[in-house]
Amino acid sequence: MARTIIVTGAASGFGEAIAKSFATAGDAVMLADINEVGGQRVAGEIEAAGGKARFQYTDVADARSTQRLIDTTIEWSGGIDVLVNNAGITHPPVPVEKIDEAEFELIFAVNFKSVYLMTTQAIPALRKRKGAIVNIASITAEHPRWGQSVYAATKGAMISFTRALAIELAPDGVRVNAVAPVASLTGMTKDTLGSADPQARRRQIEATIPLGRLGEASDIAGVVNFLASPASAFLTGVCLPIDGGRSI
Ligand SMILES: NC(=O)c1ccc[n+]([C@@H]2O[C@H](COP(=O)([O-])OP(=O)(O)OC[C@H]3O[C@@H](n4cnc5c(N)ncnc54)[C@H](O)[C@@H]3O)[C@@H](O)[C@H]2O)c1
Repeated sequence: MARTIIVTGAASGFGEAIAKSFATAGDAVMLADINEVGGQRVAGEIEAAGGKARFQYTDVADARSTQRLIDTTIEWSGGIDVLVNNAGITHPPVPVEKIDEAEFELIFAVNFKSVYLMTTQAIPALRKRKGAIVNIASITAEHPRWGQSVYAATKGAMISFTRALAIELAPDGVRVNAVAPVASLTGMTKDTLGSADPQARRRQIEATIPLGRLGEASDIAGVVNFLASPASAFLTGVCLPIDGGRSI
């Protein structure tokens, strides 16, 4: 039976690839993002390829907006099988004292409060379907590079939350897992690499990855699909690195 999947941050990057991979497998995909143009484009491309998708403008840091997303998804497709918390922002590599309080609060709201909101609001529907949650963390949480303090902390919070929720939701048959990608080529790359000399920084990062390249959105989509599938039925509370060996 076709499942219903919510993917946040689905207008570009990992979210776009994740949404398209679920749609290709025959699932109905609800795309959520603040980027209306990108979200409509991705939904249109999925439908043109014969898939089922819908875009809903959603600010994942706003409780009313996320509740509207959950309600619209259930009206549209009857329930929720998988929630992928992917929307996120970062900051360029800077010392922590260059991150002011407003930026700190914004990054925590988009990267972590969002996961609390989406999860608490989706739990009743996920319980009914014995569904799964997949959170997009980052290898930065446990292996930070210079200048990534606040971003790394949001992803650390996400990994702890994943493990704690896995315990809490296991009796209901709901699995909660995460992935930790290494630096990858997406819309976020310019922030990750900074502006000083992005190409030199890229080579520097690649040199620390045993498989010798940055990640790609398709690398992440494949593992997220696995964590949402029966093939991973006995996995919960894990955070799988997708990092070409960087964390060895
Ligand atoms: N690219 C990397 O190197 C990398 C590495 C590890 C983890 N990640 C994580 O992967 C996830 C996806 O990032 P990406 O690399 O695809 O970047 P991206 O910038 O291409 O995608 C992020 C998406 O989130 C959306 N978004 C931002 N704020 C939002 C909000 N308030 N509400 C809803 N949507 C919002 C953006 O519009 C965008 O479409 C993020 O959580 C990021 O932290 C990225």
